[in-house]
Amino acid sequence: MIIAQLSDTHVLERDEQGFVDNNASLASIVASINAEDPRPEFVVATGDLTNWGFPGQYEVLAELLAGLEIRVLPLMGNHDDRTLTKRTFPDVPWVDADHASWVTTNGDVTVIGLDSTDPGTHGAVFDEERSAWLEACLRSAAGPVILALHHPPFTTGVDWMDSSGFEGLAALRRLIADNSTKILRILCGHFHRPVVTTVEGVTTSVCLAGTYHVALDLRPDAGRSIIRDPRGYQLHLLDGRSVVTHTRYVDTGETAFDPGWT
Ligand SMILES: [Fe+2]
Ligand SMILES: [Fe+2]
Repeated sequence: MIIAQLSDTHVLERDEQGFVDNNASLASIVASINAEDPRPEFVVATGDLTNWGFPGQYEVLAELLAGLEIRVLPLMGNHDDRTLTKRTFPDVPWVDADHASWVTTNGDVTVIGLDSTDPGTHGAVFDEERSAWLEACLRSAAGPVILALHHPPFTTGVDWMDSSGFEGLAALRRLIADNSTKILRILCGHFHRPVVTTVEGVTTSVCLAGTYHVALDLRPDAGRSIIRDPRGYQLHLLDGRSVVTHTRYVDTGETAFDPGWT
C-alpha cells in the first residue's frame, strides 16, 4: 500500500503572485502523482493548503485538486479556514466536532487525520476534546495506525519556526507513547522542509512543501529566512510493519536516464 503526501501548497488566488508560483507547483504535483506507477491508494494533504484561507484561494485549490485521480484526504493548517476546508471537501469523513479531524481505514491500516490548528493563531493545540477523540480512534484501531497532523509534535531546532508553540503537546506525546507499538508513522507538514525524528519511539516525518522552503539555519539567533528549494511530495510505502518514505521532486527540469553502466 502506498500513501502519497503533499503539504503546504499555500494556494493563491488567480491573480496573486507569491515567492514562487504556488498554484503552478500544485498543478505539477497533481500531474506527477497521477503519473505514479504503481499508484498510491490515496493522498494525505497535511495542511496550509491555502495561503490565507480566503474563499478565492479555496476555489483555486478545489479546481487544482479536482485534477487528482486519487482520493485526497486534506488536513487543516494554520493558514487554512476550518469552515471553508470542510465545505470544499464534503466527501471527507469529518468528525462532527469543533475540529476538522477524520479517520479512515484501508485494509487493516487505520489512517487518522488530527486537526492540530488553533484558529486565529499560527500555533498548535491538542485540547481535551481532541484528546478524547484521538484516544478513542487509537483504541478502536485493530491494526497499524498512521497519524497525520499539520504541526510537528517536536521542536525542529529552527527557533523562529518552533516559536509558535504547541499547547497540550505533553498530553499528545503521552498518548503517542501509550500507543507507540500501534502507530507506524506520524506524518506532518508546517515546517516547509523534510525532517525525520522519533517522537516517543515513533518515527515522525515532515513532508517537503509544495511552495517555498524554510532556509536551513540552525543558529539560535537566526532570523526568518526562506529559500526556493525544489518542491515535491512524498510516497510512503507500507508493508504492515514499517513505512519506507521516498521524495519526488517536481519542476526540476530533470528527467531520468540510463547512465550506461554495465
Ligand atoms: Fe505552511
Ligand atoms: Fe503551517
